Amino acid sequence: MCGIVGYTGRRQAAEFLLSGLAALEYRGYDSAGIEVVSPSGNLHGVKCAGRVSVLAERCRTANPVGTTGIAHTRWATHGAPTDRNAHPHLDCSGRIAIVHNGIIENFQELRAYLSRAGHKIASDTDSEVIAHLVEDAWEGPARGSLVDALRNACQRLEGSYAIALECADAPGQIAVARRGSPLVLASTEDGAYAASDVTPLAAVSSHVIQLEDDQFALLREDGSISVFDSEGLLVESPTRLDIDWDASAATLGGYADFMAKEMAEQPEAIERLLKDRLDEHGIRLDELSMTGEELAGIDRVYLVACGTSYHVGLIARELIEQWAGIPVFCEYASELNYKEPLVTEHTLCVVITQSGETADTLTAARRMRALGCRVFAVTNVLGSTAARESDGTLYVQAGPEICVCSTKAYTAQMVACALLALRLAFSAGKMGHAEVERHFRNLEALPDLIREVLRRSWQGKRAAALFRRASSALFLGRGVNSTTAYEGALKLKEVSYLHAEAYPAGEMKHGPIALLEPGFPVVAIVPADHVHEKTLSNIQEVIARGASCVAVATDGDEAVASLCEHTLWIPPVPEEMLVPIVAIVHLQLLARYVARARGCDVDKPRNLAKSVTVE
Ligand code: M6R
Repeated sequence: MCGIVGYTGRRQAAEFLLSGLAALEYRGYDSAGIEVVSPSGNLHGVKCAGRVSVLAERCRTANPVGTTGIAHTRWATHGAPTDRNAHPHLDCSGRIAIVHNGIIENFQELRAYLSRAGHKIASDTDSEVIAHLVEDAWEGPARGSLVDALRNACQRLEGSYAIALECADAPGQIAVARRGSPLVLASTEDGAYAASDVTPLAAVSSHVIQLEDDQFALLREDGSISVFDSEGLLVESPTRLDIDWDASAATLGGYADFMAKEMAEQPEAIERLLKDRLDEHGIRLDELSMTGEELAGIDRVYLVACGTSYHVGLIARELIEQWAGIPVFCEYASELNYKEPLVTEHTLCVVITQSGETADTLTAARRMRALGCRVFAVTNVLGSTAARESDGTLYVQAGPEICVCSTKAYTAQMVACALLALRLAFSAGKMGHAEVERHFRNLEALPDLIREVLRRSWQGKRAAALFRRASSALFLGRGVNSTTAYEGALKLKEVSYLHAEAYPAGEMKHGPIALLEPGFPVVAIVPADHVHEKTLSNIQEVIARGASCVAVATDGDEAVASLCEHTLWIPPVPEEMLVPIVAIVHLQLLARYVARARGCDVDKPRNLAKSVTVE
């Protein structure tokens, strides 16, 4: 999973390419590179291991001048993150350059074939073969047509790809191709743009062309774009999308990092999502594209997701089972892909994915669809693959989430699933309008409750000191808040590199208690709910072993405060099932403070990328 950008037009290409890479850096940040067609008619490239900021620094010295160029930020799959393996990759003549996002599965076979044919392969990547295949096509059947040369090369590729191609002998042009990896294009008066997602394009256009699988496009320096199908025929009406966020949504806007900014955006994201959702039929959820009768017929729900989105699924399972009375299976997509799901003709499959591009989730969704399920996507990214391939899509409208660690998408996705649960409950006859409205009003209370937790961020800052020298931490919670514990532990691990694991609090005595010793940090989520006393007993057990406890508790809970070293206070939440949406905000804040105290880059944790597009 990588980010690619391309530009041809009147501007200096490097200016857009570097800012575009910075916006896409969440997709990978092992190495980066840029290649422009220089005024002298040659390619001029700069590439290096490390982040886009390192590349930008190198470009200040190397000064790649030219108005056509392509660029790449990499998350290494094949070949170490070195200068040599950084994209763009060139053909033998050094006049053709490509950038690639995806995986070429038959690259070994193609490398062997190309080597036998006399090509000199310079890197360890799967991607470089594309440049050499294009070279063959350009020298042969497709001479003079960049898009035909790329089409020709793609016929030999197995796997997934979004590719941008430029050639010193075709100045003012970029050819692109897509299969399985996202690519969007913008045609403007200043020139034509390509990018892995809309984030870099929001500053130049309010709408984009979304390339579909097995489509190709030619971008010209006058800003025009032509889209072609796999036969090379012009596509008259390519898919167009309006970009509904402004360019500033993807900038720091005065915050120290995107994690801080995105946590702060949670109340507004939820307000956007809830707007105009209540009507006389209960919850308005036209995105489901199902009749009331079809909804009433649903006999089970499969929730499928990875990582933080899987944690959303765990909460959604409780909401749907409790409110709608429908049995729910919640599965890691990577696990479901290797077992037989128990589907019926009335099974609804809900895929939850911020990016809409997670490979395991997409594979699971396709499989569930092939088994006859109706597939509904809960996603944040407009026009993402999950959205395009599903029978219905609920966009959570959280705005671009740049920080690799998911925060605002998590809370927004939980609210989206609560809406779904209410819709199902109403259709199944489990709730009347008044009851739906009561729950909906409770959802409407969440933004202000989260604002209040954000105002109390100093509490997490103070508690963070406890973790500075720790090597491990244990998170405990009961009921729906066992999921808050899982998600809190994931946040801490991800951004601070501190080992953390989570257990339902009642499970502690079955093993994890052996970890406890004086000073060992334990985070307990113990709101005012029906299992409060039980969790309080678990905290007693923690304290009795000398461990240090940080609690997330409801205002006024002196019993908890008197036992714990730190208490992260949440205001009273009107409904127990909704506490996770408020409580997690304290744990997001805590994770960020611990990470900063340990000197970690919270937005770009090592080894991770925002969307995991490999299985
Ligand atoms: O885009 P998705 O929601 O499908 O991504 C799933 C996970 O990769 C993602 O939630 C990951 O766990 C986050 N980095 C967690 O903060």
